[in-house]
Amino acid sequence: MSRREAEPAPGGVRGGRPGVAVDAVDLGRTYDLGGTSVAALRGVSLTIAAGDYVAVVGPSGSGKSTLMHLLGGLDRPTSGRLAIGGRDVATLDAGELATLRNETIGFVFQSFHLLPRTSAVDNVALPLVYRGIGGRRRRTMAAAMLGRVGLGHRLDHRPNQLSGGEQQRVAIARALVTDPVLLLADEPTGNLDSVTGESVLGLLEDLNASSGVALVLVTHDREVAARARRQIVMRDGVVVPPADDPDTPTVVPAARGGPEIVDPAPSAEPRRASGSDSGHPFGGSGGATGATERRGEIPAAGKRCGGSIGAGPGGGS
Ligand SMILES: Nc1ncnc2c1ncn2[C@@H]1O[C@H](COP(=O)(O)OP(=O)(O)O)[C@@H](O)[C@H]1O
Ligand SMILES: [Mg+2]
Repeated sequence: MSRREAEPAPGGVRGGRPGVAVDAVDLGRTYDLGGTSVAALRGVSLTIAAGDYVAVVGPSGSGKSTLMHLLGGLDRPTSGRLAIGGRDVATLDAGELATLRNETIGFVFQSFHLLPRTSAVDNVALPLVYRGIGGRRRRTMAAAMLGRVGLGHRLDHRPNQLSGGEQQRVAIARALVTDPVLLLADEPTGNLDSVTGESVLGLLEDLNASSGVALVLVTHDREVAARARRQIVMRDGVVVPPADDPDTPTVVPAARGGPEIVDPAPSAEPRRASGSDSGHPFGGSGGATGATERRGEIPAAGKRCGGSIGAGPGGGS
């Protein structure tokens, strides 16, 4: 991973079309499993624009995590074209892709992925190491970010001294400490109880609204998905128009108080291919963006707005 000091840009995309964070055209990703090939993605085109809030839904195995890994530069497509922050990933070597990821993307996963023997503040400071920022300043920036997620009083706790909700807040702080353009959250509430999950989701939405970071959220909860500005519906490795999606209601429910939608079986965290240049996912941070897929778009029913970030006492769980 190359080290260079990169000041976060003021909430914009650093290259390519203005206001576009990620642009994908006809993306394919095929895994080779001992002679058998598994086509996890079969031609997905979408654009994520600055500040957007997009939900990705679809059954387990439909390619959601594969898509997230590609959009975040953790993996490369086997076909199609992908530009992150205006840069075609096919033109980047592994080190350049890692740097781009560090400057542009934040990741949050279902299972937190914190370093177990490392304090909250040092977990959050980790992506700043790759930027060559000095220790004292890293700690100051990480502590400030933990304050924004409501954990200013937990700086020196290790993950096993924190609740699940608090651990996910640490992971969110780590994803955002570099001021990324795009935050990719793959079932971030999947390991949390519903009350804690709601609190974490509210935090993500507040951060999206206040900092302008684009949020792409994988969820199997249709009510949660309806809160996003748009939905991408995936089936068998492709984005399907909502009309072809048996789970999509004809009328998209209101953000709150709409009809109850039964959510399908939860999907497990995906296996990941070794051998992609998936360096360290937490080297990244970025700015702001939104997504516009060319097919399969469901307009937002409503956008949750505002609120203070940081939850305050009791906001964490
Ligand atoms: N590393 C891998 N090697 C082989 N097949 C994989 C790998 N990761 C995912 N797959 C397969 O690709 C398809 C899509 O998986 P994934 O993107 O994890 O789906 P989702 O996140 O929607 O549950 C599934 O059939 C899955 O089994
Ligand atoms: Mg998945």
